[in-house]
Amino acid sequence: MGYREVYGAWKADPEAFWMQAAEAIDWVRKPSKALFDENAPFYEWFSDGMVNACWNAVDRHVLAGRGDQVAIMHESPVTLSTKGITYRQLQDRVASLAGALRMRGVEKGDRVIIYMPMIPEAVVAMLACARLGAIHSVVFGGFAAHELAVRIDDCTPKAMIAASCGLEPDRVVHYKPLLDQAIDLAAHKPEFCVIYQREQEVAKLVEGRDFNWHGFQYGVRPAECVPVEGNHPAYILYTSGTTGQPKGVVRHTAGHLVALQWSMKNVFNIEAGDRFWAASDVGWVVGHSYICYGPLLAGATTVVYEGKPVGTPHPGTFWRTIQNNRIKSFFTAPTALRAIRREDPEGKWIKRYKLHDLQALFLAGERADPETVAWAQEHLGVPVIDNWWQTETGWPIAASPLGIEALPIKLGSPSVPMPGYDVRVLDEAGDPVSSGTLGAIAIRLPLPPGTLPTLWNANERFRKSYLDHFPGYYETGDAGYIDEDGYLYVMSRTDDVINVAGHRLSTGAMEEVLASHAAVAECAVIGIADELRGQMPLGLLCLKAGIETPHAQIVSEVVKLVRERIGPVAAFRTACVVKRLPKTRSGKILRATMTKIADGVEFKTPATINDPAILDEIRTSLITLGYPAVAKTG
Ligand code: COA
Ligand code: AMP
Repeated sequence: MGYREVYGAWKADPEAFWMQAAEAIDWVRKPSKALFDENAPFYEWFSDGMVNACWNAVDRHVLAGRGDQVAIMHESPVTLSTKGITYRQLQDRVASLAGALRMRGVEKGDRVIIYMPMIPEAVVAMLACARLGAIHSVVFGGFAAHELAVRIDDCTPKAMIAASCGLEPDRVVHYKPLLDQAIDLAAHKPEFCVIYQREQEVAKLVEGRDFNWHGFQYGVRPAECVPVEGNHPAYILYTSGTTGQPKGVVRHTAGHLVALQWSMKNVFNIEAGDRFWAASDVGWVVGHSYICYGPLLAGATTVVYEGKPVGTPHPGTFWRTIQNNRIKSFFTAPTALRAIRREDPEGKWIKRYKLHDLQALFLAGERADPETVAWAQEHLGVPVIDNWWQTETGWPIAASPLGIEALPIKLGSPSVPMPGYDVRVLDEAGDPVSSGTLGAIAIRLPLPPGTLPTLWNANERFRKSYLDHFPGYYETGDAGYIDEDGYLYVMSRTDDVINVAGHRLSTGAMEEVLASHAAVAECAVIGIADELRGQMPLGLLCLKAGIETPHAQIVSEVVKLVRERIGPVAAFRTACVVKRLPKTRSGKILRATMTKIADGVEFKTPATINDPAILDEIRTSLITLGYPAVAKTG
């Protein structure tokens, strides 16, 4: 069957489609049906099945004779080390950590925060939680203590698992002090912490609360897999919304397993014994789905890569890793390719390696600009497949499903909707627009298995954020269009979320930090087009009356504040003082208009603007800051 037939089969009978997909999973008790719509619009999948995620990702492969196959390769150009862990070793390690967690009282349903860099122990920790039915919440290592504290208070973990440090190319990131500070800041206190001490830094432990990873597991009885209901949360993953309070995306176990298993074969063309690498981070959804669970569910080898695309030590490091691990499908973010291309425009580093096993390059996390895709196509000589999805959906909404059919690639498009997703482009009134017309991208409910059923402890916020605007649809927050061949084009966000180097960031969260500075009366953060990172944040500050502190000092203080409170990953480096901010008469700051001015995109002055002259003032400030595109408008 080709793509059209497979998509058509899903449309004709979604229930049968997903029940068949569910056959690829080992169940303790098979579900009686796929969709549970009794509490619509809170849809669930396979709720009355009983299953264990760790069993499906690890144990069943050992049982099937794959115990000696490498499950995880750790490639760390920052520590100059490479090591492999077989499925059997992974099973032992996960069962041992799970046993120790259980001894200390962690049970099904308890939350565990994981704050770790790109080391295999991060995956071991996730799977140990899954083994017990504990709900993990992985927090990206680039986030600051305050962000970690917000997550501690939201999901109230019984335990935390962290490493002593992370390694950026130019510095050691001291995780343990960040963890301690976060626990101090949070109102909720975890009962205990497990610390993986790395060679590069041995952290000081808090007596009675902290345990060393190895000592903690000494002499414990390994844990067996605990069966959980299909709708038991496997994990919570926080992502940026429009405010400073992140959204806790919930992932139910059974749908997560069925959808990922389906996507590994059908989208990424990966089966047992294949080698797959997603160069992302376990702190992001790509890491959850396609570093940890997806490849392991498929019985493939996955790579945990601790390094950058460039500078660790050279722009050939990705190709070297692909060669040495004989990677079949590789997944990265367009930003990473742009960084490589900037240092190696002619692809000379690519030619130094033997990439015979590589069959496809998958790109996601941000819009894949046609130039970057074309560059990769030319130099790698394999299909370059853009795929569009979100933390909320957990797996691709749109892609070219290589395992079904290699569809023609159209530059700038993540191709076509995957089964389960009925994607529509709507106008402001919620009516579908004609092909080629830009609008809000929405998905008809119910969303497929593996997507979010709700937000953690926030059903109302879930409804308000995603379901209220277009009744009967899930609102993606992205805008774009569908062409006459049914190919989707994702152009921009419709909200105040920005995308910096493939990282989704909230301008609202940054504004909260800027507003906390004593001199700042009012502020706005916008995302300005950037050649390397896609977007970069810029802060615009209005000062309180009578402030005499030099502007440069205030700017450097707010830059420092964002780094301390959100983290270096926000890449917040630029701000400027302006007299006034453009607003509508009802007081809404015109962020999109300012972004268009900075990006040199044609715009209409909103009819409801408080004073059009303010746009000229903003323009002048942006020119002074040196944004080259500004000159194109005005
Ligand atoms: N822990 C701690 N700090 C981190 C971090 C982590 N895991 N990841 C990034 N940072 C820091 C960086 O050190 C940098 O700090 P600095 O301001 O002191 O230089 C800052 O956060 C900004 O990071 P980034 O924007 O990533 O810049 P970079 O110079 O480290 O790398 C790229 C630039 C383009 C190479 C890099 O952004 C990249 O590889 N992007 C692809 C991202 C990706 O794969 N995203 C996943 C989406 S699927
Ligand atoms: P995240 O939840 O961090 O994965 O970010 C999801 C958002 O990133 C989407 O809503 C889009 O705005 C953007 N995004 C991810 N992948 C793509 C893509 N292939 N094309 C365009 N935008 C993308």
